[in-house]
Amino acid sequence: MRVLRSPAEFRSELATARSERLIGFVPTMGALHEGHLSLVRAARAADKVVAASIFVNPLQFGPNEDFAAYPRNEDEDVARLGDAGADAVFIPSLEDMYPPGRSTKVNVGPLAEVLEGAHRPGHFDGVCTVVAKLFNIVRPARAYFGQKDAQQVAVLKRMVRDLDFDLEIVVCPIVREPDGLALSSRNAYLTDGERATATVLFRALQAGRRRLQQTEDVGASEAAMNEVFSKEGVVPDYTAACDPDSFGPPSANGPVLLAVAARVGRARLIDNVLVTSADLEGGESGASRS
Ligand code: PAJ
Repeated sequence: MRVLRSPAEFRSELATARSERLIGFVPTMGALHEGHLSLVRAARAADKVVAASIFVNPLQFGPNEDFAAYPRNEDEDVARLGDAGADAVFIPSLEDMYPPGRSTKVNVGPLAEVLEGAHRPGHFDGVCTVVAKLFNIVRPARAYFGQKDAQQVAVLKRMVRDLDFDLEIVVCPIVREPDGLALSSRNAYLTDGERATATVLFRALQAGRRRLQQTEDVGASEAAMNEVFSKEGVVPDYTAACDPDSFGPPSANGPVLLAVAARVGRARLIDNVLVTSADLEGGESGASRS
């Protein structure tokens, strides 16, 4: 596997793959786990050339967030990417990505200002700006993202559509621990006790899903999620039952995204489940959505 450290090096080393549109691309911030590697494997199965990137992007961290503490272990990450079948990894320096004098930011508007965006002002501007730059450097035919970050996927799909990026976004399922905890680089911050508490996000989502199936009432579903958090003594940043594309109220008979975020110890964790119309039809009530 080739390790490429500047945009110029990436462009020249992968010139043919870029121009022939052969690249499946997996952007990451490193500290890789099976969730990230599942994206690499999906790309390996579909694309001729698989490229990943590792860049802890300062633009998407707030001033009081964990940019400095974010786990970094490049050698292990490079080995894991090679084992999972990547052909190349792009590991740019901060100076290459953000040279002095840069000022352009990508802002997708209101979609980026609710839920995560409301709790992390500017976060999605940082995500969109770095992903737009990476798309221009890598020029992939397909780019792979995890459903774990459901709002990130929706925001990036909007950016790709609005700015005419010529690529397909592929969304891969959430990889979880056996007890339901979604894999996250930030799980490394959890002590043993906090690790047990952290399953509260998944438990809340399961309760929210059950209540939605019983009642088809998004308010009741949110209440069920809040009850689980409250019993555990954790105050969530939000519990939402919303439309998976707009993050507003779900449409009648449409799918519902249940999304939660909470701080457990030093770690701010997010998780979600998508409840499809078929899940709801199989539910325990014929009640209409309210
Ligand atoms: P990062 O948090 O490193 O995640 C990289 C990719 O891995 C994202 O698409 C994320 O959704 C996916 N991922 C993380 N945990 C997962 C899990 N448990 N199951 C499935 N997929 C999972 O997301 C980012 O980095 C950054 O915002 C980035 C897009 C790289 C821009 O800086």
